[in-house]
Amino acid sequence: MKQKPAFIPYAGTQFEPEKMLANSAEYYQFMDHRRTVREFSNRAIPFEVIENIVMTASTAPSGAHKQPWTFVIVSDPEIKNKIRQAAEKEEFESYNGRMSHEWLEDLQPFGTDWHKPFLEVAPYLIVVFRKAYDVLPDGTQRKNYYVQESVGIACGFLLAAIHQAGLVALTHTPSPMNFAKNFATSRKRETFPASTRRLSCGGRNGPGFAAEG
Ligand SMILES: Cc1cc2nc3c(=O)[nH]c(=O)nc-3n(C[C@H](O)[C@H](O)[C@H](O)COP(=O)(O)O)c2cc1C
Repeated sequence: MKQKPAFIPYAGTQFEPEKMLANSAEYYQFMDHRRTVREFSNRAIPFEVIENIVMTASTAPSGAHKQPWTFVIVSDPEIKNKIRQAAEKEEFESYNGRMSHEWLEDLQPFGTDWHKPFLEVAPYLIVVFRKAYDVLPDGTQRKNYYVQESVGIACGFLLAAIHQAGLVALTHTPSPMNFAKNFATSRKRETFPASTRRLSCGGRNGPGFAAEG
């Protein structure tokens, strides 16, 4: 017979309507101050802060609790330089022919172009991969569900946690992003302790999107 999964008991908090209203208004105000930022300081940020932020992202709900994501934290200047070069190559193509006229028009207010110096300035790049399937210890593949949606929600949690830590992020989506795989798999993998909340660093499948703080 299949073993029953061990769940972490839910310890919810109930509020009176007034407190609910105050909390929701306060959180809305707080989140309304989040902004996408495209210029970064290179101020050193303790790795543990980034680790906590990624752990927060990993608390997100996911299809059948498969947690089909991998967050790769990059701080090595050499890898950041390679990511910048690869991203700028794709962005150059995009801004010079690949993007539609309408798309370029929509981007105009942001003043963006193919130059992405922040990829080397920001102390951390967090590359987010989605996992279409898990590989079991015996090598068989096990499908994940609602992967795109789950990873998107986890990225939302990630951005909220970055904001809560007083940091800033840019969701950067150079397209196509397949190049990200080369950098994520070429280095030692660090795997966080497994629990009912799983989180792993070190990617394999296709990238989802990247943010940096
Ligand atoms: C999925 C996604 C992809 C994005 N890709 C880029 C990008 O490649 N480059 C960029 O400068 N901004 C990118 N952005 C940032 C948006 O332009 C930004 O979120 C939007 O203008 C709203 O601004 P705000 O985040 O400050 O509220 C992206 C945002 C999302 C959610």
